[in-house]
Amino acid sequence: MPPETITIATDPDWLTMFTWVWLALALPIAICLCFINAPYGRHNQGTWGPLISARSGWLLMESPAVIVPASAFVWVRGWESPVMLLFFLIWQTHYVHRAWIYPFRLAKTSSPMPMLLMLMGLVFNLINGSLQGAWLFIHPTIDSSAWLGNWRFITGLMVFGIGLVINMDSCNRLLRLRRENPGKYSIPHGGMFRWVSCPNYLGEIVEWIGWALLTWSPAGLAFAAWTMANLVPRARAHHRWYRGQFPDYPAKRKALIPGLF
Ligand SMILES: NC(=O)c1ccc[n+]([C@@H]2O[C@H](COP(=O)([O-])OP(=O)(O)OC[C@H]3O[C@@H](n4cnc5c(N)ncnc54)[C@H](OP(=O)(O)O)[C@@H]3O)[C@@H](O)[C@H]2O)c1
Repeated sequence: MPPETITIATDPDWLTMFTWVWLALALPIAICLCFINAPYGRHNQGTWGPLISARSGWLLMESPAVIVPASAFVWVRGWESPVMLLFFLIWQTHYVHRAWIYPFRLAKTSSPMPMLLMLMGLVFNLINGSLQGAWLFIHPTIDSSAWLGNWRFITGLMVFGIGLVINMDSCNRLLRLRRENPGKYSIPHGGMFRWVSCPNYLGEIVEWIGWALLTWSPAGLAFAAWTMANLVPRARAHHRWYRGQFPDYPAKRKALIPGLF
């Protein structure tokens, strides 16, 4: 590919403008999601048209988040830079699981999702994956190994790790619960479920805040904002649903943040 083509494809002004607009869009999306629950899982009312199995849906919709940043990484031979290599490995630690392992861990009785929602998720992951790839690999603002000793990288990595552990532990508990009671919802217990209804969402949010800090990038910040826009209203909806469904639901349990919300 001639150099001038690369310049056009990654024009930094265009990239910056697009990323800030994308970030700002998270706010109206969050407001909409306070009134409309994304129709998958327990909130699927069956009014969004044809369905696809949860397994195929998650696999198809999340795969661009693995493939697009990986393509950018390979394109620029990112393994030659320790910083890029670490960014790549940290990102893929989450996304290889989410896209290519998690779907096969879902019980066959997991609720199917609307095809339309899967397509919306796929478009989101194409955009988000492209932004991460563009800011971290194609048009990097950080490429010196000195960054690995910076407090923002170290703190962000710790925050990301804590979020990952919370998210994985909570996901494992939910998947186990579903296997034990096929086709049914039950009250989850143990781990962070002692304090909140949706520790998997809490872990996910913590992870991407850590990612924003460790990459110190607009793409990281935008993804953290979008994750909150998606998952804060959904945690509130799950929490209300649990309370409505189970009269013996633990009264002190909050939706997302222990002791607070
Ligand atoms: N970054 C983002 O913006 C974003 C957005 C969405 C999701 N995610 C992540 O993707 C993962 C999955 O999200 P999700 O919205 O599908 O999570 P979820 O609603 O908590 O469901 C996770 C799995 O557990 C099952 N399950 C949940 N509660 C259960 C219960 N009380 N009893 C029995 N089974 C139960 C669900 O079955 P059903 O499907 O049948 O309900 C589903 O298979 C999470 O880790 C989340 O953080 C990230």
